[in-house]
Amino acid sequence: MRQSEWAVEASGLVKLFGDNRAVDGVDLKVHAGTIYGVLGPNGAGKTTTIRMLATLLRPDGGSARIFGHDVTKESQVVRQLIGVTGQYASVDESLSATENLVIFSRLLGLGRAEAKRKAAELLEEFGLAEAAKRPLKNFSGGMRRRLDLAASLIAQPPLIFLDEPTTGLDPRTRNQMWDTIRRLVKTGSTVLLTTQYLDEADQLADKIAVIDRGRVVAEGTADELKASVGTSSLHLRPQNARDIERARQLVERVLQVPSSITAEATKITAPMDDADRVTDLLIALREAGIHLTEMSVQKPTLDEVFLTITGHGVPEDEAAGTNGSAKKKEAVG
Ligand SMILES: Nc1ncnc2c1ncn2[C@@H]1O[C@H](COP(=O)(O)OP(=O)(O)OP(=O)(O)O)[C@@H](O)[C@H]1O
Ligand SMILES: [Mg+2]
Repeated sequence: MRQSEWAVEASGLVKLFGDNRAVDGVDLKVHAGTIYGVLGPNGAGKTTTIRMLATLLRPDGGSARIFGHDVTKESQVVRQLIGVTGQYASVDESLSATENLVIFSRLLGLGRAEAKRKAAELLEEFGLAEAAKRPLKNFSGGMRRRLDLAASLIAQPPLIFLDEPTTGLDPRTRNQMWDTIRRLVKTGSTVLLTTQYLDEADQLADKIAVIDRGRVVAEGTADELKASVGTSSLHLRPQNARDIERARQLVERVLQVPSSITAEATKITAPMDDADRVTDLLIALREAGIHLTEMSVQKPTLDEVFLTITGHGVPEDEAAGTNGSAKKKEAVG
């Protein structure tokens, strides 16, 4: 088998659903032995991209290689190199977690003792040891998610695709999942995960691709991406909407950063690295006779990364219920 330093090399991947270009020319390069995060809002094309890389969906354009093997021409080889979560359907709801994992292990060709050992080891690792004997039908959503990941790791593959591994998990379980993912990489696997959470990509990923409307709109380390939005962001709402352009000019002049005006043209957002300068800005605004109804300093959210990188925000209906909008409550002003 040809070795390759690249676990994933995708170039110009395209997937059409009718006339919807769900994936519209995606390039990705994932170094073997790293965690790569694909960050994007609902409908950005994350799952569709993963499904093409995992040979579950045929690309309509472009090509992709997994450890040097073409996903369409060598799909059999590729399948032996990857694991995908989300595919795992429990064998039997009335069987226990242990029994389910043992059956999966046996199906993958492990001997009986080996299968038992592996099941116990994985349940321990995923904090499910206590629940091991309980039937699956009594498992919570989070427990199922962990069992799902455990099942996909029975034969720890060189490349693991995790599609939103922590969406909907409570913070503690989320942290456990992060630890597990880190451990997988320490023990030699490569992980490609998708997420809607900037902080998750930040915590885990060596490199991040921001994807929007089927395209990669930015790529870099978490630090590089954050630098583009600032460590925190300033939100200003002038009392009189007619002042917005003037206010924006002052923001850019005093803070020396690019700013943006929200879609409804009532609010200015700008990256803020130097909190001291905000005082200068407030003085400048007052001297210009511009009154504010709102001023807050917030952590950059996915919305802001998008606003900054793409020039448009995450549409409200798509952002609803995601971390991106939930985190907006951290205002301090
Ligand atoms: N099987 C399908 N048939 C038709 N359209 C699809 C299909 N799968 C996805 N799409 C469309 O393709 C686009 C991308 O969807 P995809 O599931 O890849 O997004 P995503 O980034 O994974 O979103 P989410 O964060 O909600 O999981 C969306 O417009 C979606 O409606
Ligand atoms: Mg998805």
